[in-house]
Amino acid sequence: MKVGILTGGGDCPGLNAVIRAVVRRTIGKYGGEVIGFKYGWAGILEGNYQTLGINEVSGILPRGGTILGTSRTNVGREERGVERVKETFERLELDGLVAIGGEDTLGVGAQLYSEGLRVVGVPKTIDNDINGTDFTFGFDTAVHIATEAIDRLHTTAESHNRVVVVEVMGRHTGWIAVKSGIAGGADLILIPEVPFSIDEVCDVIRKRHSRGKNFSIVVVAEGAEYPMEQEADSGELVLVEQETDAFGHVRLGGIANKLAHAIEHGTGFETRVTVLGYTQRGGTPTAFDRVLGTRFGVMAADLVHAEQFGKMVSLQGDRIVPVEMSHATECLKRVDSELYEVARTFFG
Ligand code: F6P
Repeated sequence: MKVGILTGGGDCPGLNAVIRAVVRRTIGKYGGEVIGFKYGWAGILEGNYQTLGINEVSGILPRGGTILGTSRTNVGREERGVERVKETFERLELDGLVAIGGEDTLGVGAQLYSEGLRVVGVPKTIDNDINGTDFTFGFDTAVHIATEAIDRLHTTAESHNRVVVVEVMGRHTGWIAVKSGIAGGADLILIPEVPFSIDEVCDVIRKRHSRGKNFSIVVVAEGAEYPMEQEADSGELVLVEQETDAFGHVRLGGIANKLAHAIEHGTGFETRVTVLGYTQRGGTPTAFDRVLGTRFGVMAADLVHAEQFGKMVSLQGDRIVPVEMSHATECLKRVDSELYEVARTFFG
C-alpha cells in the first residue's frame, strides 16, 4: 500500500503527531510506504514530495508546525487543478491520500473524492470549528497558551489598575476565547456568535469596578463583530487588510485596539491591549493534542487500507469514528449557548 500525506491551511500543534502515526501504522502494520507532499495541495499539484520512512518521522512527536510545510493553495483555483492532482496520483501509483487540514483543505478533499480520487481527511484547526468532530487537535494547545497569557495579564492589570483587552484567534467562532476565558477567569468574553454593544461592554466593566475591583480582563475573539454606531444589532469584522487568500478569507485582526479605545473613552479606565496572534499556533502540542493527533493518524492509515475513502476521522466522546468528509464543510461548529451562559455567570 502506498499512501500520500499532506498538511494544508494554517499550521497547528499536533500535525507532526498525525504524520508520524500515519507513517508508523502504514509501515508497521501494513508493510506499506508513505510519501509526504510539501506545502499542502501545492506539493501534489507540482509533484513536490519526499519519502517518509520511520527514521524521517523519528523525534517529531513533540515538535510544533509541520515537517511537510503548509500553504493555502486551492486546487479549484489552479489551472487544470483536478487533472494535475489525478496525474500525480497515477504517476506515483498512490493507493490513497491523507489530507490533514481545516474546512478549506477538507473541502478540497471532499471535492476530489467526488471526482473519483481516493482521499481520507483528518480535521485540524486551533479554532475547533469543524463540523462532525467533538474536537480538533491544536485547540487544546491554543487554549493552554491563551489561558497562561490571561493568568499573566491579571497580575500586571491589577498592579496598574488597568483594563486589559486580550485578542485571541477564532476566525468564525469563539471557542478559544470562551474556553481560555473561563479557564483564566475573564471578566468579559466577546465572540462572533454573540453580538454586543459598546454600552453593554462599558456597563459590565463599570459594574465590576463599582464593587471595588480596579482592573478587568476582557477576552475578544478576532472574528467578533465590532458594533456599528448607526445600526443597532449589526457589526463588522475588523481587518488587517482587505485582500483575500485563495479560499476567499480576509485577514482578521485589530478588534482589541478598537475595543480598548472605546472602553477607555466610555469608562475613563486606563486600558491596554495584548494580541496573542501566532503564539497560539506555534510550539509544542499538549499531551491531549499529541494523543488525539496520534489516534487520528492511526485511523486514517486504517481507512486507506480498508479503502474507506471520502471519510474523515473524528472524535465522538472518547471514540475515534469515521464520518463523511463532506460533513466537515456542511456548516461551522459554533459555540453553544449553554457554554457561553457558563462564561456569562462570571461577567462583571
Ligand atoms: O484557521 C485558524 C487561524 O488560526 C484563524 O484563527 C486565523 O484567522 C487564521 O488561522 C490566520 O492564519 P494565517 O494568517 O496563517 O492565514
